[in-house]
Amino acid sequence: MAKLTQEVVDQLNLQIQIELESAFIYKALSQWCSERGYTNSSKLFYEQQLEEQKHADKILKYIDNRNMSAEIPEISKPDMELLTLVDVYKEAFKHEVYVTHTYNELCDYLISIKDYITFNLAQWFANEQIEEEGYFMPLLDQVIQMGDTNTGLMLFDKELEI
Ligand SMILES: [Fe+2]
Ligand SMILES: [Fe+2]
Repeated sequence: MAKLTQEVVDQLNLQIQIELESAFIYKALSQWCSERGYTNSSKLFYEQQLEEQKHADKILKYIDNRNMSAEIPEISKPDMELLTLVDVYKEAFKHEVYVTHTYNELCDYLISIKDYITFNLAQWFANEQIEEEGYFMPLLDQVIQMGDTNTGLMLFDKELEI
């Protein structure tokens, strides 16, 4: 098996950072929801942040298994302006779209250098991203539809299936 190049490891380290940033974003969204009584949304984002931590670990483990050294990045405070619950779901969806883009770019790069083994990993994440976008998109549509009134938002949250 060909050795993992440092350049690929650098790219993977970036993805670890992105996954951990996602975890931080969802942690912040979970907290925001909890403080405003959106209990189910808070739970949903709490679960999401755990998922994102697992994603980061999956990449860490891959680098480790390939006998290279992974980097634990510095994570900055999430910068989001949240006025209503609609903003929360907008942020989540926007972020997932951005992450999908990064995996797509990574897949492109790995094919160009013929690293098909790491490509498999990147493709797993790209597929995972499609699922996550597909999860958030209908929720965003729904929260927008119900988001005109506070009662609507509370009802949206109450009816959430987690
Ligand atoms: Fe993720
Ligand atoms: Fe995600």
